[in-house]
Amino acid sequence: MHRPESCSGSFDSRVWKYPGMVDRRKALKVVVGFAGAAAAGVVVFPAAAVVASSANAPRLPGRRAGGDDGWHPVARWDDLVVATPLQAHIIGAEVDAWNVSPDRRLGTVWLLRGGEGTETLRALSAVCPHLGCLIEHSARGFVCPCHVSDFDAAGTALRGPSPRSMDPIESRVRDGEVEVRWAQFRLGGADRIREES
Ligand code: FES
Repeated sequence: MHRPESCSGSFDSRVWKYPGMVDRRKALKVVVGFAGAAAAGVVVFPAAAVVASSANAPRLPGRRAGGDDGWHPVARWDDLVVATPLQAHIIGAEVDAWNVSPDRRLGTVWLLRGGEGTETLRALSAVCPHLGCLIEHSARGFVCPCHVSDFDAAGTALRGPSPRSMDPIESRVRDGEVEVRWAQFRLGGADRIREES
């Protein structure tokens, strides 16, 4: 085959024989480069994904004050006077998907100590079943000042828009401490339906 005389010693016979070879070699370098970058991406992307997912993951809620069984001390039994309701607040940790806030007021109850025969203890939620205002003590028993719902001394609804009587709350006396298990109930209905906390 004739070789042009102008070609010097740098002439590459492979180029002469196979004109497309240089382009293919360049292309091969590009492919290898992409493969390397892709391999690096396999390391980088999952690492970024782990950081992102841990940032979005909800934290586990902490233990509620008063124990996981939900009992909260609210008063001394000796503080209760027969037939005189005592208002008490449930103080504990407020837990959401991200935070645990200690010493928050979780709710309010009225404690009733009965004195005829065997002494008894009752606790009633101070949350009005109508729209959730705080129920107060009154001469006849209890009253919700928001829309004037009246309840008798046992918490039974007498008049007003409250669709049901005051909601009972579990209570007990342990070592002289009055404890309650706070619960919230759906507002606005005649049926007493416990809300999940
Ligand atoms: S919120 Fe109590 S009567 Fe309306």
